[in-house]
Amino acid sequence: MDRDSLKKDYIELVASVREYVKEQLQLGFIESELSEPERESPYANFDLPTLATDAASCTKCPLHETRNSVVFGVGNTDADLMFIGEAPGADEDRQGEPFVGRAGQLLTDIIVKGMKLTREEVYIANVLKCRPPGNRNPAPDEVETCSPYLVRQIELIQPKVIVALGSFAAQMILGTKIGITKLRGEFHPCNVPGLRVLPHKKPPAIMPTYHPAYLLRNPSAKGDVWEDVKMVLAFLADV
Ligand code: URA
Repeated sequence: MDRDSLKKDYIELVASVREYVKEQLQLGFIESELSEPERESPYANFDLPTLATDAASCTKCPLHETRNSVVFGVGNTDADLMFIGEAPGADEDRQGEPFVGRAGQLLTDIIVKGMKLTREEVYIANVLKCRPPGNRNPAPDEVETCSPYLVRQIELIQPKVIVALGSFAAQMILGTKIGITKLRGEFHPCNVPGLRVLPHKKPPAIMPTYHPAYLLRNPSAKGDVWEDVKMVLAFLADV
């Protein structure tokens, strides 16, 4: 074998080992001390109170002009289970707390009546911290600007499981364009860009499920959410 083909084989081998290790890390089958951020977050050294204070005065995107509150997140900052929604609605914008409107009441029922937990035991946040006017979908540049807050929240809380509520949160966390109907019903490896995982910790397992607002319009989908929630409970009982 000549030198050039040897070199080509070597490069291909290194590339496939790198892919294999990356996949094993994402699946949580191996742990790395080298889990570095892809790019340094502006909040890399912030603790949660500092992060919340920073968010409270954020003017990095135009949503600050129309908001009444910055809806940072609530709950147990040491939670094993984190719920992530899309963005605050009108009720959340008024009260400064995620999931307190009609969809929020349904999420609370899922947590309290379904999972036999309390809102105080879990952590609840959104991809966007400010309400898009008229509840329109978040714009890509708003997500890009705001998501470092969520990434740092996940790093600091280090949940074992994240329930991604609806397509929007699921697609952001999994870095995919696949719709929620295809994504739900199974755990996925976390794919949050730039998320640093502490040595000896696993990245959170992601369970996408339907958004409670969707359930209000389509009550027949509640059974699917219950199936997803049962898988989350079984996972948490096992780790
Ligand atoms: N919908 C969301 O995605 N988040 C909230 O906080 C409320 C409604």
